[in-house]
Amino acid sequence: MITALLCLLSSPLLDSDGPSWHGDVEAIVKQHCGDCHSSSGPAPFPLQNYEDVANRSSFIEVVVREGIMPPWLPSASGLPLQSHRGVSKLEMQTISSWIKGGLPRGQASEVSSHGVPEVSSSKADVSIRMPEPWSIPAEGGMNWGRRERDKRTFVLPLGNPEPLRVKQMRFETSAPKAVHAVSFLADDGGYARAVDEREAGPGHYMTGDVNDTPSGALGSVGVGSRTLLLPSGYHWEIPARSDMVMQVHYRPTGRSLPMQESLDLWLSKDDPASRPVRTLLNMIWRVDVPAGEVSELTESWVLPVDIDLIGFTTRGSGVLTRHELSATLPDGQSLDLLDIPDFDPHWRQTWLLQEIRRLPAGTKIVGSWTVENTESNPRNPFIPLDRYITARRTGVLATMLHVAAVDPVEDEALKAWHQGMVRSRPSVQRALQPPTQPVSEVP
Ligand code: HEC
Repeated sequence: MITALLCLLSSPLLDSDGPSWHGDVEAIVKQHCGDCHSSSGPAPFPLQNYEDVANRSSFIEVVVREGIMPPWLPSASGLPLQSHRGVSKLEMQTISSWIKGGLPRGQASEVSSHGVPEVSSSKADVSIRMPEPWSIPAEGGMNWGRRERDKRTFVLPLGNPEPLRVKQMRFETSAPKAVHAVSFLADDGGYARAVDEREAGPGHYMTGDVNDTPSGALGSVGVGSRTLLLPSGYHWEIPARSDMVMQVHYRPTGRSLPMQESLDLWLSKDDPASRPVRTLLNMIWRVDVPAGEVSELTESWVLPVDIDLIGFTTRGSGVLTRHELSATLPDGQSLDLLDIPDFDPHWRQTWLLQEIRRLPAGTKIVGSWTVENTESNPRNPFIPLDRYITARRTGVLATMLHVAAVDPVEDEALKAWHQGMVRSRPSVQRALQPPTQPVSEVP
């Protein structure tokens, strides 16, 4: 036994005993880290070659073990999502043993690329770009006197004479290290444009919501995921003569960066049966949490028609720590749709389901949010603590369910029902007035 071990230790095959860089770790890093940790990516340093990784190996081990990296908000307890970014237990063990084994290099070999969803490489049908750059400020400045300013909305005219059926969008940023989540909607009423014209220079300071439509109704792209590709047979519908409204969340980096974003659209042209994707809000429209307190908020409604569920976009600020969305089917069976155990507004994006899920009429959708207005919440932007009171008709805390009705008649019914629900919220002005009498609808 001892002889055998000694023999092995002294053999030149020592490398193959434990994991090596080329044999094992390079592929893991390439798959889970490389897209963002590259010179053109959003992360602050590259993780591309042996030195990049070996020189930071213990830091890397900690952030991966703690689930800080790669950034990905949903846990595995909801419905399976496309492009899930987690590192498996086995991969984690491989990284740990490689570090324990003294960071061996191993033999160089080809590393195969990983399975990102197939996206169209053909030329886009519509390309729009900010006509002039805007400078991301070195420091955000104060946002309504409460926290650092970190978002701005831009209006990009599409000038489309006809409605568009969009099946894929690809966003490009000129400032990948600063630009985080970017949310889209189409405005055919000129509303965002009118707001934009009140401010000098590109863009405006208000959020990207337009009337009853939440920013993100056409999805959001996030850090390291700049493409949104709908499953075949579905499209986003953009009315004729629309503007694309784009709300950009950025992180000030300490130096001013020019930002000139562009968006490419691919259209669904040869599929007359393609169905439009609608966005349903499950939301808390008014939040009021005293300083130092934790509050659990819930919202539920019942689907009026059968729908196909395609994906989710969640929004909230740093006071939101946990969010869960579940469904109770008409037969009483319950289903976890989405679970975000540790929300971080900078890592939001649209999550598309691996497989479309039919939910029948009568299904109850239940959302729950934990708001921690405390000092122990590391992401609370409202320090020093204050009463956190805010309202927004399109949801302060919200998950947008991207769905499609099964036929045009039910699609009309779904739209009318959803509009009625959003419009039943009292106006924000009333909600935020000093409480002369209690607002009965407060969640
Ligand atoms: C989706 C993009 C993305 C992916 C994928 C990603 N990172 Fe990161 N990483 C970032 C960004 C952006 C930062 C900068 C920190 C921030 O903005 O919070 C960062 C920061 C880090 C840091 C510094 C942490 C800190 O607290 O300052 C380490 C270490 C790290 N990443 C390692 C990894 C490793 C290892 C992987 C793969 C297992 C990985 N990252 C995957 C985007 C990514």
